[in-house]
Amino acid sequence: MPLAAAGMASFSGMNGNASESIPPDLILALRRAQRIVVFTGAGVSAESGIPTFRDALTGLWERFDAQDLATPEAFVHDPELVWGWYEWRRMLVQRTQPNSAHRAIAELARRVPQFTVVTQNVDDLHERAGSTGVLHLHGSLQTARCIACGTAHVFAVGIPDEPEGGRRLRPPLCARCGGLIRPGVVWFGESLPEDVLAGAFAAARACDLLLAIGTSGLVQPAARIPALARQAGARVVQVNPAPTALDDDCTWSLRGAAGVILPQLLASASMLPNAPVRGGQCAADQGRAGP
Ligand code: APR
Repeated sequence: MPLAAAGMASFSGMNGNASESIPPDLILALRRAQRIVVFTGAGVSAESGIPTFRDALTGLWERFDAQDLATPEAFVHDPELVWGWYEWRRMLVQRTQPNSAHRAIAELARRVPQFTVVTQNVDDLHERAGSTGVLHLHGSLQTARCIACGTAHVFAVGIPDEPEGGRRLRPPLCARCGGLIRPGVVWFGESLPEDVLAGAFAAARACDLLLAIGTSGLVQPAARIPALARQAGARVVQVNPAPTALDDDCTWSLRGAAGVILPQLLASASMLPNAPVRGGQCAADQGRAGP
């Protein structure tokens, strides 16, 4: 199934206001859950300083949308522009740290019998926070391969040293056939790795609770995951400061920043017995009652 955008959302501001407490039935659902899927998007890494795909690009790329650069056509048309963007992002990710949302997710996994993290993110912040077996639907910034023969490219050890505003950068050439090396991510119009997608869909259909965190729900086929879970009888909770395309599939929508709400959610469910509760009250915009 190829990666496809259903439209763009506008988004301003990252920190949601917290005004209400977490719904008691959500706390109960969290305590009782045996099979949880956490489905994340760019918003879960926003508080680590990684821009989301709806944020305006800056520097060398300010005239572009992320969706213009994340395509096979863009790479063929201007490989240096696109490779430079990915190397800059690889640097950004390596320089940053997981935030309290990534850490809360890893902590939650230790307390639930079956737990699957499915991410659209190409960073490794879930893993660096301690999550294991993460399903990366859209590939990884830390992989690259030849555009012609598919041979994997090995990056030099260390953090790329890119200027703040970015630069055009010639992609390396394949050691085997001399073809251009491209990022190991899934671009718009390309198919997702079949086994990873199948694993994510299966986990969604089998879970009793799905948490959709920091995703606009605009990019298919990943955006189907919360609906698959709901249709199979799971409850769905969303954490996002803004309304999203997933709102109708959610039992609860918690409006706020993932780094504030997730630790608070766990503390409220007594799943992190000694977790400090910071950042005020959790926003709970309780949607329709769940099944
Ligand atoms: N906490 C939670 N959510 C946040 C936060 C935050 N601190 N900050 C922003 N968000 C939300 C935004 O409101 C938005 O809904 O994160 C979401 C980010 O949306 P996108 O940028 O569209 O990211 P995502 O849903 O992951 O995009 C999917 O699109 O460009 C492609 O392949 C790329 O994987 C990406 C896919």
